[in-house]
Amino acid sequence: MSGLTIENISMRFDLPNGGSVQALKDVTLDLKPGELMSVLGPSGCGKTTLLNIVAGFLAPTEGRIAMNGHTVHGPDAERGMVFQQGALFEWMSVRENVAFGPRMKGEREAQYGANVDHLLDVVGLQDFKEKAIYELSGGMQQRVALARCLANDPDVILMDEPLGALDALTREKMQSLVLKLWKETGKTIILITHSVEEALLLGERLLVMAPRPGRIHKEYRLPFADLGVDQDLREVKKHPDYNKTREEILAMIWDMEEEIMGRTEESA
Ligand SMILES: Nc1ncnc2c1ncn2[C@@H]1O[C@H](COP(=O)(O)OP(=O)(O)OP(=O)(O)O)[C@@H](O)[C@H]1O
Ligand SMILES: [Mg+2]
Repeated sequence: MSGLTIENISMRFDLPNGGSVQALKDVTLDLKPGELMSVLGPSGCGKTTLLNIVAGFLAPTEGRIAMNGHTVHGPDAERGMVFQQGALFEWMSVRENVAFGPRMKGEREAQYGANVDHLLDVVGLQDFKEKAIYELSGGMQQRVALARCLANDPDVILMDEPLGALDALTREKMQSLVLKLWKETGKTIILITHSVEEALLLGERLLVMAPRPGRIHKEYRLPFADLGVDQDLREVKKHPDYNKTREEILAMIWDMEEEIMGRTEESA
């Protein structure tokens, strides 16, 4: 079976004081090859934990992750990760960063060179390829991170708040780039975000998670990601269903936050 299966995943963190945190409870989900899913939810609802389990960085207390039919037991190049920031190699040039994965696999320049240059073109960094990372803006650095991830040719790309540190305009441009890359490469993508707008624009499927224990609260299937491949994102936002869904999700998350606050006050 191809694609990614998240099967009855639960995660409990045991704390040094003897207590424990149920970060995830019974999360089940199937992603077909090429699906783009955004994940929203209040802070602490287990989004990063879920992504780390899919990446193979964490072993779940219960359940299993299957990728193209085999059980995931650890990190692998088939599942690439793009972090919020700071995960680039500062001492290498842009091009060396992008070429890092293929080089680690033992490939030679003659094998990976053309693809690395193609990816630098796709993310618009060909003119900056000899620059050091510290010379780049935040948006450019995230483009390097995307290209570096794609150079490993993963089946699934996992992104934890990849655009969270960018200014509004750069963020919008990057959202368009993510959609373009998604269509061009056909990769399966899971993207965590705190922005309801971003989740709407980038989520062909949008998952809303709830906290304590972290679980799936609601899932949407939305037309906006497909529309945004060819259209200006500001035009997409004018779609009659966009605002309606946005308001619905905002209210949903607001209620969850209120409940968390209420519980915290009770326990104080
Ligand atoms: N290594 C750990 N040890 C103990 N508890 C942890 C650990 N990692 C996460 N947790 C707890 O698990 C819960 C889920 O954390 P997680 O980081 O997955 O949330 P999140 O949804 O990504 O939050 P945010 O939106 O703030 O990034 C939280 O209560 C957190 O405190
Ligand atoms: Mg997180």
